[in-house]
Amino acid sequence: MEKKIVLTGIKSTGRPHIGNYIGAIKPALQLAENDAYSPYYFIADYHSLTTVQHANQFKDYVYGIAATWLALGLDPEKSTFYRQADVPEVLELAWILSCLTPKGLMNRAHAYKGLIEENRQNGLEQDSGINMGVFTYPILMAADILLFQSDIVPVGKDQIQHVEIARDIAGHFNHIYGETFKMPEYKVDEATSVVPGLDGRKMSKSYNNTIPLFNEEKELEKLIKRIETDSSLPEDPKDPALSSLFLIYKEFASEAQVKRMRERYENGVGWGEVKKELFHVMNAYLETPRQRYIELMNNPKKMDEILLHGAEKARRRARTFLEEVKEKIGC
Ligand code: ADP
Ligand code: TRP
Repeated sequence: MEKKIVLTGIKSTGRPHIGNYIGAIKPALQLAENDAYSPYYFIADYHSLTTVQHANQFKDYVYGIAATWLALGLDPEKSTFYRQADVPEVLELAWILSCLTPKGLMNRAHAYKGLIEENRQNGLEQDSGINMGVFTYPILMAADILLFQSDIVPVGKDQIQHVEIARDIAGHFNHIYGETFKMPEYKVDEATSVVPGLDGRKMSKSYNNTIPLFNEEKELEKLIKRIETDSSLPEDPKDPALSSLFLIYKEFASEAQVKRMRERYENGVGWGEVKKELFHVMNAYLETPRQRYIELMNNPKKMDEILLHGAEKARRRARTFLEEVKEKIGC
């Protein structure tokens, strides 16, 4: 049976945090382990250009994301792992798709809508500070997805609308030119779809409330101590389902550890104790990947090689399909 294509991208706008890991990277790595799937995982660096407009920082963030995937065990031989900008076919398809995308569809995209709403509240002109990259962001993402005939797109909840837009655009193209693009399905892990940050809001680089994955040990411990908790007393029974500490703990602990922690919650446990235990479990889990991450960050040449090798694989597939698409439009 032909393998299903599972594709996802992470934009390089900062250092990956445990929200990215739990919501996107970990489930994607699990899918990559499954022989029924052919994984296409990439660094959405051109997406990050909408906000990261400083060359050194741009480059550094790309390496940070690449090192993260590799340190956590992505096998570049068993997957196609690349940098978006190394696959120019994506851009070619993005233009074709943009000519078939009603502008109104972009007006309704939530990231853009959020920005114009913010401008309105601040008494600014509607489009103040918004570049065209932000506006057409979902088209580039549709091109990422549709170019590889993706079956499954694992993402966090905030990206569902973007996958739906990709489906809309694909449907529109297929309607005009005949069956061409496959309809991608998003895959959201419901249990962990939103990892809360230090302040209880969604953990996000944009809110400055993250726990970066590969911080030094001391820094990790400090940040865990800062996670917000309620004012219940140590002896009060606690509901694990309502606790962000528990939500994070269960992603890094063994089944036996999770079971024991659940009992401690039910019998009453101090938040300080939970945080200490969370730190130990996370630190042990991340120790080896952190080491690998540091080694890779010190060897950008090696990452360049790996990414270029991935881009070559990706382009071979992309070129053939893009030719088909171009033929359909009469090009
Ligand atoms: P950020 O919000 O920090 O900028 P990105 O938008 O780059 O994160 O997200 C990269 C991937 O990680 C996406 O699939 C996104 O849905 C997922 N993700 C980001 N933050 C979280 C979170 N707090 N919980 C779960 N998944 C998340
Ligand atoms: N927009 C995604 C994010 O902000 C990143 C991304 C770009 C992506 N292209 C993609 C995710 C294609 C999945 C598939 O997180």
